[in-house]
Amino acid sequence: MFWQTVALSALFVRNASAVPQAGGGNSGSADFLRFGCSQLVVERTDPLVNPGLLPSPHMHQVVGGNSFNITMDPDSIDPPKTSTCTSCIYTEDTSNYWTASIYFKSPENGTYKRVPQMANGRLNNTLLEQDGGLTVYYMRPFSGTKTMKMTAMRPGFRMLAGDPTLRSKSTKYPGICHRCLQKGDRVSGGSGAPCDSKDTAEFPNKPCPGGIRATVIFPSCWDGKNVDSPDHRSHVAYAPGSNALAGDKCPSTHPVRIPQVMYEIMYDTSGAMSDPKYFQNGKQPLVYSFGDPTGYGAHGDYLFGWKDDALQRAMDNLGKGCASEDCTKILKIQSGKDAIACTKAQQAKEDVGNSNWLTEIPGNIMVQ
Ligand SMILES: *[C@@H]1O[C@H](CO)[C@@H](O)[C@H](O)[C@H]1NC(C)=O
Ligand SMILES: *[C@@H]1O[C@H](CO)[C@@H](O)[C@H](O)[C@H]1NC(C)=O
Ligand SMILES: *[C@@H]1O[C@H](CO)[C@@H](O)[C@H](O)[C@H]1NC(C)=O
Repeated sequence: MFWQTVALSALFVRNASAVPQAGGGNSGSADFLRFGCSQLVVERTDPLVNPGLLPSPHMHQVVGGNSFNITMDPDSIDPPKTSTCTSCIYTEDTSNYWTASIYFKSPENGTYKRVPQMANGRLNNTLLEQDGGLTVYYMRPFSGTKTMKMTAMRPGFRMLAGDPTLRSKSTKYPGICHRCLQKGDRVSGGSGAPCDSKDTAEFPNKPCPGGIRATVIFPSCWDGKNVDSPDHRSHVAYAPGSNALAGDKCPSTHPVRIPQVMYEIMYDTSGAMSDPKYFQNGKQPLVYSFGDPTGYGAHGDYLFGWKDDALQRAMDNLGKGCASEDCTKILKIQSGKDAIACTKAQQAKEDVGNSNWLTEIPGNIMVQ
C-alpha cells in the first residue's frame, strides 16, 4: 500500500472520533462543520486561474454566492456584499467552491456526455444537491486536540488544491481521492475516513454502480500574509507529515492554522457508465473535463466569501453547539428550496453535455 495510506490509518486508530465519517450521524463528537451547496452554474469560467477569460479552458461546476464572476479581484470584490443569494445552506456563506466536471466517453462511438452529479444522500438537512452541487466541510485540522484554535481566512483569500497536469501518483496531494460506491452505498456514500484505504488517487479501477465520491482536501496552514500566490498554492501548505489531514503542526513558513476545507462531490455512474463491458483493462470510461482519463489530476478551487466573522464564530463553537450538519445556533440557515433556487445564468454559453452527446469535450479538450 502507499505510505500515506498506512500513516492515515495509524492516525485514525489513535483518534477515530474526530475524523469525518461519510454520512455519519455522530454530531455529538464531530469536530467539523459540513453542509450542502446546490449547483450555481456549470460553465467554462475560472476567476482563480484564468481571471477575465471567457470562456476559460475547461468545464467547471460551481456552487456558492451568486456574485461568482469571471473576474473576482481580491482587492475590490466582497462576495457577502455583492451576492444576493447563495446556493449553500448557510446564508452567511457566499464563498465559491468549484471543481472540474467529469465526462463519460461512449465506448461505442467516442462521443461525450457530462456525468450527472447526485446528492450526498445521508446528510440530512443538506439534501439539496440533486441538481449537482457538493458537500463542503470545515474541519479542525486533525490533531486529537479538540480545543486547538483556528483562524478563519480573511476576505480575498483563495486557494487551489490538486494539479490538473498530474497523470500519475504524487505525494503532494494525498487528500485528493476517489471512492467507488456499490449499489448499497449509493445513499450513505460509504463509511470510513476520507482518502483511506478504500479510496484511490486515480479513478477506481472497477465499475461503480453506486456512484463515485470524489474528495478534495485543502491545506490547513497559511502564511498569514498573502490571500493568494502566483500558483494559488504556495501561500498555503499541508502540515508536514504523511497525509493531508495531519494539520496540527504548521511549518514556520506557514504558521497560521486555518480551518481545513474539504469537498465531497458525488457522481452518478449507475447504468451504462458502470456496465462491466465498458471497462477496458480496468479503466473507467471517464475523462475529467481537462482531458484527464486517469483521475490523478482532480483538483478543487476555493474562494472565501463568509460574511463578517461568521466562519470564525462557527469554528470557535465546534463541538459546542456547532457540529456536523447542525450549526443553526451559530449560523443562519435557509431552506433547501431557497438554496436550490439560487442559480446563475451561464456567462460562457454552451451546451455542457447534460443530455446531448458531444463530439468533443467543451473547449476542444484533448484526452491525454
Ligand atoms: C435522516 O432522516 C431520515 C428521515 O427523517 C431518517 O430516517 C434517518 O435516520 C436520518 N439519517 C440520519 C443520518 O440522521
Ligand atoms: C461581472 O462583473 C462585471 C464587472 O466586472 C459586471 O459588470 C457584471 O454585471 C458581472 N456579471 C454578472 C453576471 O454578475
Ligand atoms: C453514441 O453512443 C451512445 C451510447 O454509448 C448512444 O446513446 C448515442 O446515441 C450514440 N451516438 C451516436 C451519434 O451514435
